Amino acid sequence: MVASGNGAVGLPTGMRVLRRGGSALDAVVAATKIVEDNLSDHSVGTGGLPNVLGEVELDASLMDGRSRHAGAVCALTGYRYPIDVARLVMQRLPHVLMAGDGAARFARECGCEERELLTPAARELWRKRLRAFGETPESISRKRSLARTVWRTIGAERGTVNVLALDRRGDVASAVSTSGWAYKYPGRVGDSPIIGAGNYCDSRYGAAACTGFGELAIRAGTARTAVDLLAGGATPADAARTAIARANGLEGRHVTRLNIVVLAPDGTYAGATTFRGVRYAVMTATMRRPRLSARAVVRAKL
Ligand code: GLY
Repeated sequence: MVASGNGAVGLPTGMRVLRRGGSALDAVVAATKIVEDNLSDHSVGTGGLPNVLGEVELDASLMDGRSRHAGAVCALTGYRYPIDVARLVMQRLPHVLMAGDGAARFARECGCEERELLTPAARELWRKRLRAFGETPESISRKRSLARTVWRTIGAERGTVNVLALDRRGDVASAVSTSGWAYKYPGRVGDSPIIGAGNYCDSRYGAAACTGFGELAIRAGTARTAVDLLAGGATPADAARTAIARANGLEGRHVTRLNIVVLAPDGTYAGATTFRGVRYAVMTATMRRPRLSARAVVRAKL
């Protein structure tokens, strides 16, 4: 299994699924749910940072490399495990991506567990950020225009979890979950629920998933790019570097950080980033605990 660094807490659970002979898809879901429940992770699930108005809106998706079926939700509020809802979209609807109220209605219909997502700690971080902008929860809720405030959140803390797995049958799967851009404009959707941007997989070639500024991964189709490069014979290291370099090649100086993890069906893997210091997590069947590794830093622009 390969994950973003904050996914390490979920890998032992995912690995237990794989060791029992479970599927890569079951493993990525099991690992992701651990992170969605991790209250100290302010980028995913319960405890995630809210939008600028103080509401936590979650994005999640997954893909099964065996069938290339996929499911996703975006701007989902009030549910504990968005990755489960994404899986149910894949299994029970003729659709891939469900948004906002429709996604919540579907989650309710499926009996998914509801949850207050805004924790006291995350609320305090939001209030603190508003204070830095000269705002309060009351003043921001009265504002007619939020755009100027949202531009000031570009430098805010951010994160996402992604998890890739390879199972005994040689199938790969990918999953991504996030509360998205901290203090975003309400309704903003990142790359995480966009198949081909935030994650993509195909058991013939491998799997890839992104974290960082989703705007870049959407514009560059970064996860799909990496898997296409694997299909063309690239190693995971080359695919990861080239996919990041192509995102670097896009114009725009505001949103600059992007990270990727890549896993091939032969078990080789790699991580790359635009920015030093972003690690990724790996756990193989023989490891007792996950290992964090440095990603290749890519400055090239293609
Ligand atoms: N990569 C997560 C996001 O931009 O929302």
